[in-house]
Amino acid sequence: MAPKYQDAEIGLLKEEVKRQHHHDTKHSWHTAAVALFSFVLLLGVIFAFLHADSLNPAPEDHPLDGLKLDKGSMNVLIIGDWGRKGQYNQSFVARQMGRVGKELDVDFIVSAGDNFYKTGLKDVEDDNFDLSFTDVYTAESLQKRWYAVLGNHDYKGDERAQVDKRLQQKDTRWFCDYFYTIPVSVGPSSTVEFFMIDTTPMVEKYWTFPESLKYSWRRPIPREEVVASTLANLNSALEKSSATWKIVIGHHTIYSFGYHGDTQEVVEKVLPILKDNKVDLYINGHDHCLEHVKRDDSDIHFVTTGGGSRSWNGKFAKDVQARSEAKLYYDGDGFISLSASPSSVLINFFDITGQVLHKFKLEK
Ligand SMILES: *[C@@H]1O[C@H](CO)[C@@H](O)[C@H](O)[C@H]1NC(C)=O
Repeated sequence: MAPKYQDAEIGLLKEEVKRQHHHDTKHSWHTAAVALFSFVLLLGVIFAFLHADSLNPAPEDHPLDGLKLDKGSMNVLIIGDWGRKGQYNQSFVARQMGRVGKELDVDFIVSAGDNFYKTGLKDVEDDNFDLSFTDVYTAESLQKRWYAVLGNHDYKGDERAQVDKRLQQKDTRWFCDYFYTIPVSVGPSSTVEFFMIDTTPMVEKYWTFPESLKYSWRRPIPREEVVASTLANLNSALEKSSATWKIVIGHHTIYSFGYHGDTQEVVEKVLPILKDNKVDLYINGHDHCLEHVKRDDSDIHFVTTGGGSRSWNGKFAKDVQARSEAKLYYDGDGFISLSASPSSVLINFFDITGQVLHKFKLEK
């Protein structure tokens, strides 16, 4: 049976979410609030000299009512494009991941790459690992395994540091590799399987002068071999899999209305494998926004979760709101949750207040 799905909303840009949010805000205790605000602002200005991000107040928490009803037998959070030492809204996204993670009692967290800005990790000792990961995702609900793929920024440092198992001595949550799969049982005869791929070597411009100067390419085999082995691994793992739900995670977009747009090499090389093997979902980062794309020419749902920090904030294809295949385009920061039961997969998109911007459900 062909998978069915239900949609909630279409094309939300940050301005619209903000307007809706303001509409909700209560105006009582006005005078006291102004006095308190002035005092806090003064403290904020003083503190700002020590810490550049603190002029932005933490956003108000949106209630998470109702999420429990949608809990599945497997619950995960998926985030991309995040490691900025807590700056550029990274900490605010982390806070909401902590809240949603607790509410859903998540099993693990998935990272879609660009884990450490701007130039990955330089070695296993790099303190950017502590400052951008361990010290930021401190909520108790996030003390679970983190399964990561690499993004292009990770290749600007020594990407081998991120796949080095010695990193787990610094933080036991961390796991990253060039290719692996995560099979999760969600019922007596039902499995969700994640296929984790490395898309950065596929992209031609990173290997072409002068862009190539920014990349260090420490993997010791030629590009053609790296790409061919990724595609062969993906194809054979998908062929062997009997999972009910097949979900492929890579850093680069396939279809996107963000600043980067589609990634031609991934469309050409990876998409045919996804179609041949009846993959349900392709989930990526790279474009710093939240997106859900569903085209009429394919059963696959394309999800971008690149809102871990420093989102596009106004950068998107001009016609995005007129595009029927763009079920959600949100240019702000955030992350997604994915809950699976034997017959359904539910995805929620969250902003930095914990508000659900969009959701969809696949059923088999
Ligand atoms: C953080 O998010 C808020 C709300 O979307 C936005 O107004 C602000 O510009 C963001 N800050 C940064 C540094 O990106």
